[in-house]
Amino acid sequence: MRKVVFIGWRGMVGSVLMERMLAEKDFSGFEPVFATTSQIGQAGPDIGMDTPPLKDAFDLEMLKTMDIIVTCQGSDYTKKMYPLLRKSGWKGFWLDAASALRMENSSVIILDPVNRTVIDQALAKGKKDFIGGNCTVSLMLMGVSALFRKGYIEWLTSMTYQAASGAGAKNMRELVSQMDMIGRASEEFLKDPESDIADLDQRVLETMNHRNFPIQNFGAPLAGSLIPWIDSPMENGQTREEWKGAAETNKILQTRTMIPVDGICVRIGAMRCHSQALTIKLTKDIPVDEIMGLISESNEWVKVIPNTKEDTLKYLSPANVTGTLGIPVGRIRKLNLGKEYLTLFTVGDQLLWGAAEPIRRMLTILLEHLSS
Ligand code: HSE
Repeated sequence: MRKVVFIGWRGMVGSVLMERMLAEKDFSGFEPVFATTSQIGQAGPDIGMDTPPLKDAFDLEMLKTMDIIVTCQGSDYTKKMYPLLRKSGWKGFWLDAASALRMENSSVIILDPVNRTVIDQALAKGKKDFIGGNCTVSLMLMGVSALFRKGYIEWLTSMTYQAASGAGAKNMRELVSQMDMIGRASEEFLKDPESDIADLDQRVLETMNHRNFPIQNFGAPLAGSLIPWIDSPMENGQTREEWKGAAETNKILQTRTMIPVDGICVRIGAMRCHSQALTIKLTKDIPVDEIMGLISESNEWVKVIPNTKEDTLKYLSPANVTGTLGIPVGRIRKLNLGKEYLTLFTVGDQLLWGAAEPIRRMLTILLEHLSS
């Protein structure tokens, strides 16, 4: 039986992966092994079957016995262990949620509802490294890849509204702590509906800018505010998150000529859904109805939301999408800039289609490939 080791299964992406694998009854037909960087010998997760005690995730000899390594441990682990494994002659499949290997020639960025052909071609060629994409890019492509496929996109700009989870578990806690502190500081004004709104506003502002306000992880207030900077600076003025837009989109789709993708990535006070407003320069004047049809038929998770206030409020929000695989795409209309300028808004769970789900599905594809 094929052996698959899971590393980083306790973290945020890893635990969502475990949940999804359990929900889909994926733990069958292979021998699962769980490894850890810190709790060797302890019991593994409850997956409804016996598994051996946790192995050492840094044990090269153990890793070399695996057919597939699935890691959600992060880029530092990848940078340390991947080269050692390949140097040792290990020929197994490396399936990784971290970004470290994404842009390597030997890697395929996986998002099978969008690039299954690319994945199948890579498997046929003997490629072994399959890496999950940046969450914002994956969620954008789940929404509009049909328009790329048709050659309808000359360029695209994405203005993002990214959730705290993209920055990590500590950041999610920090966001809620910030909300809590603002809520408690405002209580006396909220209890009295007659209180002066200017006083409430002033109290919120003072609280957010107080030296005790918890900003250790974000570096700035997020609750009641926003942070238009995600990841590290690039030399050209982009942030690395913004740079990934074009680099990864074109790699996922294996475009022949680079389609420009750029925008500003902004952190907002949502918990785990990334949203984005796209402006698309179409290659020609394509009717909105045709665009809606293409989008809604592109995969089973995307849903076109009518451009009404009622539908937008009901469906097109993190509050509605969190914890689901749904990819609503709404506010679809031509901009007044001209008939070739399209705008739309889309939302997706950053931990599901943005991280764990492409990995879960790729594991199934790899196991099928190995048994064929
Ligand atoms: N880099 C993303 C973010 C998450 O900070 O929201 C991972 O793709």
